[in-house]
Amino acid sequence: MANNEDLFKKIISHSKEYGFVFQSSEIYDGLAAVYDYGQYGVELKNNIKDHWWKAMVQYNENIVGVDSAIFMHPTIWKASGHVDAFNDPMIDNKDSKKRYRADVLIEDHIAKIEGKIQKEVTKAKKRFGETFDEAQFLSTNPRVLANKKKIEGIKNRLYPAMDNNDLEDIKLLIEELGVVCPFSGSKNWTDVRQFNLMFSTQMGSLSDDSDQIYLRPETAQGIFVNYLNIQKTGRMKIPFGIAQIGKAFRNEIVARQFIFRMREFEQMEMQFFVRPGEEMKWYEYWKEQRIKWHLSLGIPESKYRFHEHDKLAHYANAAADIEFEFPIGFKEIEGIHSRTDFDLEAHQKYTGRKIQYFDPEINKSYVPYVVETSLGLDRTFLAIISYAYTEERLEDGSERVVMKILPALAPIKAAVLPLVKKDGLPEKAREIMDFLKFDYLCQYDEKDAIGRRYRRQDAIGTPYCITIDHQTLEDNTVTIRERDSMGQERIAIENISGIISKKLRSVK
Ligand code: GAP
Repeated sequence: MANNEDLFKKIISHSKEYGFVFQSSEIYDGLAAVYDYGQYGVELKNNIKDHWWKAMVQYNENIVGVDSAIFMHPTIWKASGHVDAFNDPMIDNKDSKKRYRADVLIEDHIAKIEGKIQKEVTKAKKRFGETFDEAQFLSTNPRVLANKKKIEGIKNRLYPAMDNNDLEDIKLLIEELGVVCPFSGSKNWTDVRQFNLMFSTQMGSLSDDSDQIYLRPETAQGIFVNYLNIQKTGRMKIPFGIAQIGKAFRNEIVARQFIFRMREFEQMEMQFFVRPGEEMKWYEYWKEQRIKWHLSLGIPESKYRFHEHDKLAHYANAAADIEFEFPIGFKEIEGIHSRTDFDLEAHQKYTGRKIQYFDPEINKSYVPYVVETSLGLDRTFLAIISYAYTEERLEDGSERVVMKILPALAPIKAAVLPLVKKDGLPEKAREIMDFLKFDYLCQYDEKDAIGRRYRRQDAIGTPYCITIDHQTLEDNTVTIRERDSMGQERIAIENISGIISKKLRSVK
């Protein structure tokens, strides 16, 4: 794991050094778990949003978008269950003064036992070679069986305790398992307490409880409360979806993982409204569609896996995470939830308004069921930069760091580089820049030797470098260098735009 931790640190410092992500309020010593996106970060983020929006809204005729406000009527959060149930059980270590999510401490303990099982499998694979039957080994090896039993036992305690809000038993479990604080190594724990993750503030000039409002902890509710507006004005027929990209806020207890877990973050969510009873079909459909989308980012399948939930959120009857292998391990990047009619029913009840759909095909009115896809924009950003970050040793012995970001998502599409800063080359390069910039975000750079300029572009993931040299003045040709192969071709100036456009399309 040490290597992956190193890698994570390198990615964080590269992100800062090259203008992708900065700690928020850094000159005031920063604000925990809040980040700003710099000049290249904002471009990558916008490109991810655009890619998702197209896949959802543009390519699906039955999905439309919405942009709802962050501030919403406070009763919405009562109806959605967030006021009463959007809690995490927290526990503090008295020696390190660090705060943890109690359930995560126990889940990390389970992951350690799972790690032991995996080690047994790896060892046995080596020992038995080709003849190794993993399924048989997992169901018969005594050490594996004992560890599986341990895991079962822990889950059978943890999940009911979480469901029944039995905080004493969660604490007892932590003590019985001998869980230690990763910082101090001590078992000196406080009691477990519930902690609501919503940020609240006051609206208007009066500061009593009646004016308390919340910063939304998910974008989904902005979709639910606009269901009637959009269904009616858009004449939408079930099944249909509403998509939204926007900020969400959670007062996370554990917030030490860069942009993986933030207190202010962005979600890309889509609620798909379906006929009751058909939700499982659509749940499976969206699981398949969403993993295809992730693979379209140019990241191999081996970096993703599904994790079906044993313990369901208060609104769901089925739920799965798509997990990505971040440098900190496989972690959730997107949730796909079958939310039943929980939310619309609740808003119907709290508002007294009828939120129903008349289905002409079956001649019946009902409250639609919902399958949601909920993707974290910042986690997608982190997945892309983690996979893209590559250190390479070149043939001449030098080293380069290159961000192998899918060209269609790269912040800067092309760099325009006069070979030298004289002989009319900058003027010619400016001419090229002036027509290319209307099609692509390009960067003009004439400072330093050409090799250093290539390295700078590699470090921010620019897929194409256009170099203007003395031959350009003679025959109107330039070289185009491809980031990953570093191969160069000579092409006519008039073909640059078309060639870049073709290259960007061919990798989409
Ligand atoms: N509407 C359902 C919902 O919000 P969730 O699993 O709590 O479900 C969905 O969140 C996604 O939002 C997660 O898969 C993750 O990518 C992202 N997310 C959640 N909390 C986050 C945080 N504190 N920082 C960054 N991303 C977060």
